Amino acid sequence: MRQNFVAGNWKMNLTLPEAQALTSEIVQMLHDELLGADSPQVVICPPFPLLPAVGHLLGGGPTPALGAQNCHQKESGAYTGEVSAKLLQSIGCQYVILGHSERRQYFHEDDALLSQKLKAALTAGLKPIFCVGESLDTREAEETFDFIAKQLKDGLFHLSNEEFDQVVIAYEPIWAIGTGKTATSQQAQEVHAFIREQVAQAYDAQAAQNTTILYGGSCNAQNAREIFSQPDVDGGLIGGAALKSRDFVTIVKSF
Ligand code: G3P
Repeated sequence: MRQNFVAGNWKMNLTLPEAQALTSEIVQMLHDELLGADSPQVVICPPFPLLPAVGHLLGGGPTPALGAQNCHQKESGAYTGEVSAKLLQSIGCQYVILGHSERRQYFHEDDALLSQKLKAALTAGLKPIFCVGESLDTREAEETFDFIAKQLKDGLFHLSNEEFDQVVIAYEPIWAIGTGKTATSQQAQEVHAFIREQVAQAYDAQAAQNTTILYGGSCNAQNAREIFSQPDVDGGLIGGAALKSRDFVTIVKSF
């Protein structure tokens, strides 16, 4: 279901006390400042060890919801150090980020593996936030659309209509992540519109219109409103700015 949506990806940051303080501040600000029934979907994605404590403070409701930053493709077994989607669901996770460019780069996750992770997440009842995005070299070679079309086709479009309906897509140009070099709202809009068209071709027009597509990559309290004003941008997947309660809630209010 398409909705205004903001997820915070904390990456590998914060200790337990810091996470508890940040979460409490965000929850209080959301309560005090976003009372409307049409407030955006908010998801907080801390590192694995912080999930239970953050989930407790979020309260277990539909929003703000708890999310993870990854999951294994198997339900259980001899996979030392790994975490299953089933376990994540059992501790209160409702969402899971999959295909983030940092996992594709540092942990060599390819679209074939990600298609398995998507299935595992959906089977466990988690809503995937599936990330796509190009490198600066790909953009400068004017191959962005072909690259993203392949990521979608090889990683995501194997899902059934019912499965796909649970998915949120995040466009994160790699050259904008953590760099302060945000895509322009026009650059974001043209890729979001392209992604939505790819969904229409892979599924149908209704699926395309019902898909939530987030922008990520140096989105902050100052530029979020301009980016979110674009017709095919439904919100953001936020990194650095999610670690500051005032900035993150300002982004949530930027629709
Ligand atoms: O997943 C969101 C993240 O990759 C964006 O990071 O710090 O550029 O907002 P940042």
